[in-house]
Amino acid sequence: MKKSRIIATGVYLPEKVLTNADLEKMVDTSDEWIVSRTGMKERRIARDDEYTSDMGAIAAERCLESIDMPKDKVDCIITATLTPDYTFPSTACLIQNKLKVKGAACFDIQAACTGFIYALSIAKAYVDSGTYKNVLVVTSEKLSSIVDYTDRSTCVLFGDGASAVLVSAEGDGLEVTSICLGADGEQADLLYMPGGGCRNPASHETVEGGLHFLKMSGNEVFKHAVRRMESAAKECLEIAKINEKDVSWIVPHQANVRIIDAIAKRFEHLPADRIYKTVHKYGNTSCSSVGLALDELMKEGNVSNNEHLLLTAFGSGFTWGASILTYKKGNVS
Ligand code: UT7
Repeated sequence: MKKSRIIATGVYLPEKVLTNADLEKMVDTSDEWIVSRTGMKERRIARDDEYTSDMGAIAAERCLESIDMPKDKVDCIITATLTPDYTFPSTACLIQNKLKVKGAACFDIQAACTGFIYALSIAKAYVDSGTYKNVLVVTSEKLSSIVDYTDRSTCVLFGDGASAVLVSAEGDGLEVTSICLGADGEQADLLYMPGGGCRNPASHETVEGGLHFLKMSGNEVFKHAVRRMESAAKECLEIAKINEKDVSWIVPHQANVRIIDAIAKRFEHLPADRIYKTVHKYGNTSCSSVGLALDELMKEGNVSNNEHLLLTAFGSGFTWGASILTYKKGNVS
């Protein structure tokens, strides 16, 4: 069996910044409420003519360029998103066309905010089994296209952005040491978008009723998010037989700084400043949040050989997952 490694990362963030002061002019909210309840100060918003596939393609291009990987070496593109350009074809196919990676297998997956870890698990299976050598995992979200900017309980939370990682059998990088996934469909209606699928196809009524906007019972989701991200992370450590004390960084889904801090408290051996945070500047970018944080952490250059990172995420479905990544330099056996 090969051992998969993330050998390159890349990101794309739209230029437009939506600040708390901007939101104060749009809905009945305040910078004080947003910062104290979420930790968010600003988030990025895509242009009207900038789509999920555009952002994903730029992140992917940057990822490949960072290690001078020729595009024709990519065997497969997996895109995680809950805001695809179209219901079909897949956003992965659109990204393939923009990248001009002819022939690579392409498909999308839908695991909401846990999409990065779910997609990584598939890439790992392909690479470990020898099915493919180089799998590009792309996460991209234009959440601004499904957020109701008159609903203060959700519009302050979300931002747009994309991340990409190349999972490969060869090269220095983050070995995917273990992955745990889980889901519970019983609470699907606590975080969902009612319109646009076959149950409520687009009609005047669905548009007028606001069914094409995301709906969330924030309080309920909050409790589940903390519990599930903690338990997935601990299960993943157990499977990998790695002690909490040996983890250098936790890279959690960036839904809310209070959720992140609650998770930090449950890992008593890890100093609070070793929980990586980007939530203050990008908000909740759904499945892109872990990839954005991971790219930033790696580019800061503070991860050394054999150090372990612990990723953990939670999202609509509910879905959850965790992964341990171990930085490895040198040949893969
Ligand atoms: O990414 C996938 C998973 N998503 C999450 O994990 C998100 C989880 N949930 C959360 O992060 C938090 O529940 C929120 C940030 C969404 C809300 O924070 P909260 O502390 O749970 O607030 P709440 O919903 O209990 O609302 C408290 C009060 C309410 O007013 P009353 O009823 O107490 O008078 C809300 O109407 O705050 C009010 N409120 C606001 N006030 C000012 C809600 N949104 C706002 C706002 N500005 N933007």
